[in-house]
Amino acid sequence: MTEQTFFMIKPDAVERGLVGEILRRAENKGLQIVALDMRTITREFAEAHYAEHQGKDFYEPLIEFVTRGPLVCGVFESVNAVAAWRQICGETDPVHSAQPGSIRGDYCLITRENAVHGSDCAETARAEISNWFPDFPLK
Ligand code: RTP
Ligand code: MG
Repeated sequence: MTEQTFFMIKPDAVERGLVGEILRRAENKGLQIVALDMRTITREFAEAHYAEHQGKDFYEPLIEFVTRGPLVCGVFESVNAVAAWRQICGETDPVHSAQPGSIRGDYCLITRENAVHGSDCAETARAEISNWFPDFPLK
């Protein structure tokens, strides 16, 4: 079924010049870019995006990390978009869990600075797309 997912290329990957490489991998997989923007988000916006993690030990450093510079955000559309993008991102911990061949497995060393974000299910995708791109026509 065609679906949409929200994605982010986090500040570490933007700083390292990996935007083109990451989008190339997504497009090669078959994910179509249907929204794309570069922005630096406020603490308030980051807190809303990562509200599910409030209170965890990694929450504060995570908020500082995602607000420290520009990130790239957007929407992919394809069959199985949510799972397909999570698959090519790889597991959260880039060394102990993510496989080589995934974005995190190939480019990252620590869990916080893991280059990319993807919605974890279709319902989250709709909520994140609405939050980041309020005028975007949801499918
Ligand atoms: P994301 O939401 O960014 O796509 O990542 P995810 O689903 O794979 O992982 P999640 O559990 O939702 O964690 C969100 C982000 O928080 C940072 N994190 N740091 N132990 C740590 O230092 C730690 N654990 C999580 C990562 O940036 C992770 O992607
Ligand atoms: Mg997550």
